[in-house]
Amino acid sequence: MKILVASHNQHKVEEISNLISSPQFSVRSLNDFPTIPKSVEDEPTLEGNAVKKAREAFKTTGVLTLADDTGLECYYLELKPGVFSARYSGENATYADNNAKLLRALKGVPPRRRNARFRSVIAIVGNNIQKLVEGTMEGAIAETPHGSNGFGYDPLFIPRGSKKTYAEMTLEEKNKVSHRAAALAKAVEVLRGMK
Ligand code: IMP
Repeated sequence: MKILVASHNQHKVEEISNLISSPQFSVRSLNDFPTIPKSVEDEPTLEGNAVKKAREAFKTTGVLTLADDTGLECYYLELKPGVFSARYSGENATYADNNAKLLRALKGVPPRRRNARFRSVIAIVGNNIQKLVEGTMEGAIAETPHGSNGFGYDPLFIPRGSKKTYAEMTLEEKNKVSHRAAALAKAVEVLRGMK
């Protein structure tokens, strides 16, 4: 079965491809379709953005599409940055800018109040199908960045049950526990049910 992952983010594509690697699925990403314009992620929810990205990519390619939209939700900050995670410190913000802004927002906040969760929503869109699945991982925000693997807020996020941040884990370790892995396991169930 041909599947398009509607993302240009190489880190994300790698995580997803790794998680759904199976002879049953032949996975492509938007990096294989360079002429498709990037979707504007302007919906007010992760769900809205995931569906928008998946529908736009499916409409242009006709290939069954998975699109993920993910947000980091900090309880002390009333679930911010959430849907604004990519542009928390402004349009064209770098991962380092966003991490620095998050550390400023949580400056002086004690460890017991630094809890947060990652929430990944995956939309599956194809002929006669539009489904949404979700995966979450609870954890906490470190006081300083640790590790250099992964991307985004990985150097700051310590998943529950671990002493390491996501960025201190190998891709295999992150994929065993991550929000995206949880969402993808549900997406794979949906794909298997489609045959
Ligand atoms: P996106 O819109 O789903 O690509 O994600 C929004 C932002 O959330 C990204 O720019 C990253 O900063 C962050 N993000 C998404 N997934 C992860 C992850 O697995 N680890 C760390 N940060 C992530």
